[in-house]
Amino acid sequence: MNAEQVLQEMTLEEKAAFCSGRDFWHTKAVERLSVPSVMMCDGPHGLRKQEGEGDHLGINKSIETVCYPTASALAASFDRDVMKRLGEALGQECQAENVAMLLGPGLNIKRSPLCGRNFEYFSEDPYLAGEMGAAYVQALQSKGIAACAKHFACNDQETRRMSGSSNLDERTLHEIYLPAFEAVVKKGKTRSLMCAYNAINGEFCAENKMLLTDILRDKWGFDGFVVTDWGAVKGRAKGVASGLDLEMPGGPNATGEEILEAVQNGELAEADLDKAVLNVLRFVEASLDRRDEHAVIDRGACRALARELAGECAVLLKNENTLPLRKDRKVVFIGEFADRPRYQGAGSSHINVPHPVSALEAAGGAVTYARGYDVHSSTTDEAMLDEAVKAAAGADVAVIFAGLPDSFESEGGDREHMRLPQNQNELIAAVAAANPNTVVVLHGGSPMELPWLREVPAVLLMYLGGEQVGAAAVDILFGNVNPSGRLAETWPVRLEDNPSYLNFPGEDGVVTYAEGIFVGYRYYDKKKLAVNFPFGHGLSYTTFSFGNMTVDRESLTDQDTLTVTVDVTNTGAVAGKAVVQLYVSDKESTVRRPVRELRDFAKVDLLPGETKTVSFTLDKRAFAYYEPKVHDFFVESGEFAIEVGESCRDILVSKSVKVEGTTVISFTINENTTIGQLMKHPKGASFLRQMMGGRTRDQGPSDSEQAAAMGEGSEKMMQQMMFEMPLGSLVSYGRMTRQQLKGMIAMLNS
Ligand code: BGC
Repeated sequence: MNAEQVLQEMTLEEKAAFCSGRDFWHTKAVERLSVPSVMMCDGPHGLRKQEGEGDHLGINKSIETVCYPTASALAASFDRDVMKRLGEALGQECQAENVAMLLGPGLNIKRSPLCGRNFEYFSEDPYLAGEMGAAYVQALQSKGIAACAKHFACNDQETRRMSGSSNLDERTLHEIYLPAFEAVVKKGKTRSLMCAYNAINGEFCAENKMLLTDILRDKWGFDGFVVTDWGAVKGRAKGVASGLDLEMPGGPNATGEEILEAVQNGELAEADLDKAVLNVLRFVEASLDRRDEHAVIDRGACRALARELAGECAVLLKNENTLPLRKDRKVVFIGEFADRPRYQGAGSSHINVPHPVSALEAAGGAVTYARGYDVHSSTTDEAMLDEAVKAAAGADVAVIFAGLPDSFESEGGDREHMRLPQNQNELIAAVAAANPNTVVVLHGGSPMELPWLREVPAVLLMYLGGEQVGAAAVDILFGNVNPSGRLAETWPVRLEDNPSYLNFPGEDGVVTYAEGIFVGYRYYDKKKLAVNFPFGHGLSYTTFSFGNMTVDRESLTDQDTLTVTVDVTNTGAVAGKAVVQLYVSDKESTVRRPVRELRDFAKVDLLPGETKTVSFTLDKRAFAYYEPKVHDFFVESGEFAIEVGESCRDILVSKSVKVEGTTVISFTINENTTIGQLMKHPKGASFLRQMMGGRTRDQGPSDSEQAAAMGEGSEKMMQQMMFEMPLGSLVSYGRMTRQQLKGMIAMLNS
């Protein structure tokens, strides 16, 4: 089929109807013109293909298949290659199942640990989320399957998720909430985006021209199609005019009547409708062109991949000489999750897994077991507790499998607190008191409060690691796999420390992102708050040293690139993977900026004693912040530190560079413009120099002469005072007449 040609031959009625789906999972066919209907399915940590009745809540059955780690786990791998392998496997499966598009990845930012859907999202950091998302999208699409990055944008909570408004300023939107989407568009070349249910500053995403056209297409160059989240459509015609292409789920009643009428009565230009239709037709055309009818899927190989990836994602949070476990030790596994692991979240991403592998099953006869708690209750069962404590006392090591039950986090609702069920906390405290070698393995999609943290020597975080999570946990506990995950989000001590705490989930359908750009570690670091575990943290069974850092230049402009290299050495006794994290810190900024921000990362596999050189290339964006005055990213000239380390709080080597910004911010000068501001104005600075240099003796002592007479430190004070003076005060202090000032301002603005 040829999309352009089909468009020419379609009637207005056909075009209007084509902008909605046939049913829950299919686009409409146009049989007359041989345009088939194609299928899209939920994902993306597995394929949720519904062959029977469709739904978007994970209620009705989907085909039995493999469940991989969910996004919060995947992000902790800090490994683009993990995303690549996942994307390729899913792409292959979609081909084998004749699915043209897999809905995901979820790129929303983890503003609060309470978002019920955090398990489907990558990170509190937009760069990391964008890199992981883009690597996945490229891989999935390399198999001819479209990705659909979601939920565009600011869909960062479940409370009022379908009707609320996320209110935030321009800088925060561009600096925190959009870059991950920008990366999957520009770098990942995603074929599709799903617009979110919510509004941004009162304008629903499904009809938000700023978002769907001005930013997405005009600024970022997106050439794919935009689909609504299921049921997110508002005004149909306004949506199409704003850049929305396809309404889902559609169904028999979605005839396109509203669009048709709007075109007929002149409310909607037919050219806008044509654009939407063509965008969807092109997707169908590309799907047909890339269709691989012979594709087969080896689910055994997929399960092995799921196990391997789960191992890459696990984060060893704490380890005081306890892990890995020696094979000759008497080990007891405690907790229902050891037997029935929690490995995925509830809702539209729910995968139908025939046989999830538990840690108990994977460990075989090597361990004993006590149930410890009832996962459906938060109340402590004394008999279960006693049994667990006795079993722990009689063992060398007790491994408790704990975490968030399904009812604590799911799509459709936010968490109410950050705690574990009370019975689990009591169990852990009691077992730790009975056996000092107590290890806690955690399952869950988002941070938890850990009141017993100081009482246990080791904590292993498996997140929602997919159907093989039990096997992967055993691989790590017994040292067959060396943990290499790092936190893609801060684990605060308590919920109240989180920057969104006072403004989550908002009131009456409006949530104000009052913390601005200070999300996650950007906030905790700025406030120097103690956290349980910082962003980027994660331990290994080996140790690494970083050294020999180089930068290829010490000063550059924002049009240049900077190459940074660092040597990483495995200084321990076993092979392991280091995660080298590069942060940039603006040392002399006149606007509020985080202490440091992640700008690149690399995962490096090293044998004992081995050294590898890691190289990073930074460009303008690494130094820039979003400047609303120019509606763009902007570099302010000055000194920046390039910092490399193992977490945002564990910087091991750094170098300083000077970067010169080449964009000049021009602004209109008035009587309230300060001398300090004038210094930054292209004409103002040279004018001021002239004015100050032209002073004569009989006009009195110069500022610096006055300062010298006033003693040490006063020159700086004088300068500060002068910088704060508005131009109008040149008149008040008798330095010029109002007439002269007016003339000067007119000249500078001309
Ligand atoms: C979810 C989407 C999902 C869609 C289809 C919606 O409720 O927000 O993430 O892809 O349903 O199931």
